[in-house]
Amino acid sequence: MIYITRRERFCSAHKLVHPEWDAAKNLEVFGPCSNENWHGHNFVLFVTVKGEVNPDTGFVVNLKDLSPVIKVKVIDKLDHKNINLDVDFMAGKMASTEVLAIEIWNQLVDAVKGMGVELHCIKIQETENNFVEYFG
Ligand code: NI
Repeated sequence: MIYITRRERFCSAHKLVHPEWDAAKNLEVFGPCSNENWHGHNFVLFVTVKGEVNPDTGFVVNLKDLSPVIKVKVIDKLDHKNINLDVDFMAGKMASTEVLAIEIWNQLVDAVKGMGVELHCIKIQETENNFVEYFG
């Protein structure tokens, strides 16, 4: 079993608000991330897949095939968009990096399987100091 990771980047706006809480409670829990008029991050996404090396290519998966799938299913939907308002797979969900990682996994898991490998990890770096990893 061998693992390979593709890095992609996207810039998005979001805010963290619980719709049933008032502004004071949202501010208490989410701090500046609850700012009414949004804030943004330069997110870095790491998609790791695993499988066996194909003896013909020496690859576990051809990144030339994986990259456009990530682009169409994830990056094009998120980049320069508002995660709370614009992204179909985040509709009605909390726009946290944890939830985003889970939903990106859901976007990719079947397509990756179709390439003969398994999705292993979705890692999202939100800031220099904060990142999330989801293993399904
Ligand atoms: Ni944020």
